[in-house]
Amino acid sequence: MVGKMILIVDENATSRNFLGITLREKQFKVLEAASGKEALISAWRDEPDLVLFDPVLSDIKDEDFIRKLRNNSRTSNTPLIALSSDPSSARKEACLDAGVTEYLVKSSQAIPSLEESLARLFSPVEPVQVVSSEEKDPGLLIVFLSAKGGTGTSSLCANLAMNIKQGQPEARVVVADLVLPIGSIGQIVGYEGKMNLITVADLPSAQTNEEYFHRNLPEPESWQFQLLAGSPDPQHGNILKGERIEQIVDVLRSAYDFIILDLGRSLSRISLPLIQKADLITLIVSTDQSTIQLTKTVWEYFQTQGIDDQRIYAILNRAVGLEGLTKAEAEEIIGLTIKTTVPYMGSNFALANNLNQPITRKYPTDTASIIFKETASDMVKLARRLRARGIA
Ligand SMILES: Nc1ncnc2c1ncn2[C@@H]1O[C@H](COP(=O)(O)OP(=O)(O)O)[C@@H](O)[C@H]1O
Ligand SMILES: [Mg+2]
Repeated sequence: MVGKMILIVDENATSRNFLGITLREKQFKVLEAASGKEALISAWRDEPDLVLFDPVLSDIKDEDFIRKLRNNSRTSNTPLIALSSDPSSARKEACLDAGVTEYLVKSSQAIPSLEESLARLFSPVEPVQVVSSEEKDPGLLIVFLSAKGGTGTSSLCANLAMNIKQGQPEARVVVADLVLPIGSIGQIVGYEGKMNLITVADLPSAQTNEEYFHRNLPEPESWQFQLLAGSPDPQHGNILKGERIEQIVDVLRSAYDFIILDLGRSLSRISLPLIQKADLITLIVSTDQSTIQLTKTVWEYFQTQGIDDQRIYAILNRAVGLEGLTKAEAEEIIGLTIKTTVPYMGSNFALANNLNQPITRKYPTDTASIIFKETASDMVKLARRLRARGIA
């Protein structure tokens, strides 16, 4: 946290000075702006690590201020904390919709809340172990699966992978669609090329080395990760050998920092060894009774296979609208903590999929986009922490 640069935006000089002193005492570097316009100039010129602002600004509407920051590549991922002199919930809603990370109201409790938020947002990522280049740790393996089809596994896999890459631009991220007998990520991201799991599996294993994947895997426009698309048809998908898939995944693990696998609704002889190796197991649950019951069965099975609940990242996806069980009910039945809930997005979700666009791109200010971003960052932190502790 020490040394992070925070831009304070507040028209009220007393308030600004007070925040400046408080944050400098905590060893932050502080920049100050007394108007929205000044703040935008500083945010884009100085690229602070975080912007702390009172959304009551007389020269620019709060929502416009937030959107301008969100729509500029220099600040699109910068945490924005509103520390508001306006207690109304209308303003809070508007700011959250426009894309602020957190919204706090000025009060006697504001400073402790702010400190908590800063600690959370700047929480250090587990240090990466220093290892010689020959024995580099394999990349983090994150698998996505569900107990039932149509729960949003593939859509969430693609969208969260995109957010994982966006959160760590320096990392090499690959998504592999291992859903058999037929994959769907290619369709979601608009990849129409010929290369896929089947064509790669057909090549001699000596040819499909790290270099081969780096050079040849497509990077579908606006998705940012490299993709190994799935089986294009059941005829091919059914003859694939499990052994070859494991080999491919092993090469991907040495070639990439994050290997994200869509396993679909599968608990097969092919997917089980991958689930057992995974650093993080993302379990997508929808809110209907039957999926939740099946998820309970899957989780019980995992336990007999020695899979620890610390490695499970359960996401409740309201893919079927508002009907169905609540998060608390789902947790109670399944016996797992649900880490995130993705709201029902109506036809917007299918529309983004049909246009082959990431949700974060098509609807940057939608609650779901904010949730994807936060979930991706949370998943990365958890996977790294588990790896550092040697649990996976
Ligand atoms: N949160 C959501 N809100 C609205 N529609 C969703 C949501 N999540 C998924 N969908 C839709 O549900 C359908 C199934 O999603 P998909 O990712 O293919 O599921 P799966 O891979 O589990 O079979 C898609 O049409 C997708 O657009
Ligand atoms: Mg799928």
